[in-house]
Formats: sequence, structure tokens, C-alpha cells
Amino acid sequence: MNETRAIRASFFDITRTVDTPQQLPEAARYLEDGLMLLDSGHIASLTEWEQGKHLLRPGERVLDYRGHLIVPGFVDTHIHYPQTEMIGAFGEQLLEWLNRYTFPVESQYHCAQHAAKMSAFFLEQLLSNGTTSALIFGTVHPQSVDALFAAASKLDMRLIAGKVMMDRNAPDDLTETPEESDRQTRELIARWHNKGRLGYALTPRFAPTSSPQLLEKVQQLRGEFPDIWLHTHLSENQQEVAWVKELFPEHDGYLAVYDHYQLTGKRSVFAHCLHMEGREWQCLHDTDSAIAFCPTSNLFLGSGLFDLQRCWHQDVKRGIGTDVGAGTSFSMLQTMGEAYKVGQLRGYRLSACEAFYHATLGGAQALDLDRYIGNFARGKEADFVVLNPAVSALQKMRHANSRDIWEKLFLLMTLGDDRNIAATWIKGRCVWQRAQLEEHKHS
Ligand code: GUN
Ligand code: ZN
Repeated sequence: MNETRAIRASFFDITRTVDTPQQLPEAARYLEDGLMLLDSGHIASLTEWEQGKHLLRPGERVLDYRGHLIVPGFVDTHIHYPQTEMIGAFGEQLLEWLNRYTFPVESQYHCAQHAAKMSAFFLEQLLSNGTTSALIFGTVHPQSVDALFAAASKLDMRLIAGKVMMDRNAPDDLTETPEESDRQTRELIARWHNKGRLGYALTPRFAPTSSPQLLEKVQQLRGEFPDIWLHTHLSENQQEVAWVKELFPEHDGYLAVYDHYQLTGKRSVFAHCLHMEGREWQCLHDTDSAIAFCPTSNLFLGSGLFDLQRCWHQDVKRGIGTDVGAGTSFSMLQTMGEAYKVGQLRGYRLSACEAFYHATLGGAQALDLDRYIGNFARGKEADFVVLNPAVSALQKMRHANSRDIWEKLFLLMTLGDDRNIAATWIKGRCVWQRAQLEEHKHS
């Protein structure tokens, strides 16, 4: 019986989803001195220490994280695990970048051992950055996804992933026939979907690498398995958008291609959405589809500036994605900081409260996982991050004169990174911690 049941720390979460960013501060909860009780990997309660301490059993040990801030585990709504090894590749925009850097590294994932090695490395990167859930691209090889799911299931992480489906406009060793794609996808769904906390996502790479026959297969699978996810890219780069119009002249724009094959809808997540027409925004809203906003990637590839304000106006669900390896960091803190800068360039002021919302409950809602994760509501799964608000000399100096929780959160997203992640907990268990945390003992 050495399972931790009681944790004392500062806590921050967003207690409910809202319709406008102005409502977020009212939905936020900050407990400077709080007590969280866990029960079999779930949240039993979160209260002020003074109000909750009588709930402790006589002599019960309390894990003392005072001086730290605990927030819900970060939800990364778009990332490519096989691209970990080419993060930070110089000089190209999307289409050249894919050919020159991405496809060559993805070709290596026919090798199950390589996939296993990189899966372990990738999951360690997620955990050391406080990311507890993610929607993940594999490669075209089923063994890439087998390796990732096998590693994630040992950690009991709530992850969604899928094998890339593509049958044209890519190297021969990365393309397949629609029939092969269908068969391998079915096998993976049978093996992994709803196994513990894992979920499967149909993952056509994007319209340019999909023939109409492949998209028909995806449509059929979606119809047969209505609770699986659909994960792809949409309107990231202007050349890409023009190419889709050439490849699919019979459809009225990029999103119309996906919509025609009924790939929009709840549990459909479209990465980027930078060059969208009015009717495309409306279609995302009408179909209850979600967007992954990936600021470090959009800036790194020079793709464009995402219109977060429009998302709110059109009532389109969205989360934040790192999009490694076009994205330049696994850190959701740094990614929030870059989202703020994208806002600055568009005349939109992204508050820390809103950024943390997108990175936690908003992301969970975008993935339709908010009944399980995203905040500290009673009964939710206990996935959380223990943040050390100030670790460097600069952070310590700056935090010392910060006034309130909003400023502390904003400093975390502007100055913070993986150094600020003290520990990461999955379903009530500490699965990763930074070495210097040893000073924190049970009191
Ligand atoms: N569009 C199609 N494939 C990719 C990819 O791997 N990364 C990004 N950023 N965009 C894409
Ligand atoms: Zn991507």
C-alpha cells in the first residue's frame, strides 16, 4: 500500500469549457495551498489545504510539493513521432521540406527495432515536457504504430495514434495501395483501439498524397468504426492549397475534398488551417471538427499566422500542437509562448489563462477526451504536471517580482521550458521526475 493518495501544492486548472475567452478567468481555479486526493488513479477531490486536511486519515502521509504548481497534463493535439530525429532541418518550406528531410527519415520505420528505439525516446521527450496525452502521426509502416502503442501501453498513457495512409506523390517505399492501406489499418484498429487508454486515428497524410480511391477507403473505415479519430493536415501552405485545387478540380477547395469523403466531424482533427476561406471555417463549425494550432511549426516553415480569434468567433474547437519535427520544440510551454507571438503579429492578445486552457482542457475537448482528462474535476484521470515556476537565475529574478498567478503563468510560457517540469504523473503514478526533485520527500 505505497500508492500516493494525498498531495499538497499550488494547483491551477480550468474547470469548464467556455464560449468566449473573456469567460475563462471565471472558469479558472487557483489554489495557492491546495490538497489533492487521489483514488485508484483518479481525482477524488481538490480543496484548499485548510478545508481539506480533515479528510486525511490519521497519520496519513502527504506528498509535499509546496513551492510547485500542479496543472493538468499537457495535451499535444498534433505531433509526428518519426520526425523526432530531423527536428530543426534548415531552409525549406513545406513541400520541399517533406521531400528533402521528412520522407527519408520516415523510410527507416520499416525496421521494428528502430521504431521501438525511437518510440521510447519520443515518449521520454513527451513526459519530460509534461505532455501526458497526444494525437500522433506514425509512418506508413504498421510496425511504427505497433512500437509506439506497445511503449505507451506500458506507461498507461492516454494516446491516440495511427499509421500514415498514402498512395501517391511520395517515394515508392512510403506508398501503398488503397487495399494494403485498408487491410493494415484494420489490423491495427483491432490490435490497439480502446486497448486500455489507447485510441486509433485514421491518418491520411494530406489530400496531395491521397488518391480518390484511398479516400474512399478512409471513408468506409470511418463509417464502420465511428468512434475512431481522423487526423490529417489542412491548408498549411499556399503552394499546397494550390496543388490540392489542381489535383481535385471537381471539389470546391481543400476542405471540400475531406468533407466529400465524410472525413469531417466530431473526432476529426485538422492540423494548421492557415489559409482558409469563409465557407471552410463554417464547415469546420457545422461538422464539429477540431483544429490543431501549431505555432512553432507555422513560424519555422514560414507557413502563416493562425487566426485564433476566428476560431472563437466561428466556434471551432481547437487545441495546441507542437508538430515536431516541423515544430521546433516538444515543450508545450514554449509552444504557448510562440502562440502568444503569433497573436501579437495578428493583433490578438493571447492571455496565459487562455493559453493554458488550449494546452489542457481545450486540447482535451478538441480530441473529445474531456470526459477523462483536461482538468481536476472529481472522477477524472489523474494525469498532471508538477511545475517548478522558477529554475534559472533569470526566472528566479523575474518571478520574485511577479504579482499574481496570471503573471506567473505568463512567465512560465514566455521563459519556461523543460527545465521547469519537475515531475509528470500518469493516472496517479509519478512516471517521470527531474533528478533534483530528490529534496522533496514525504512529510
Ligand atoms: N503536410 C503533410 N505532411 C506533413 C508533415 O509531415 N508535416 C507538416 N507540418 N505538414 C505536413
Ligand atoms: Zn504535421
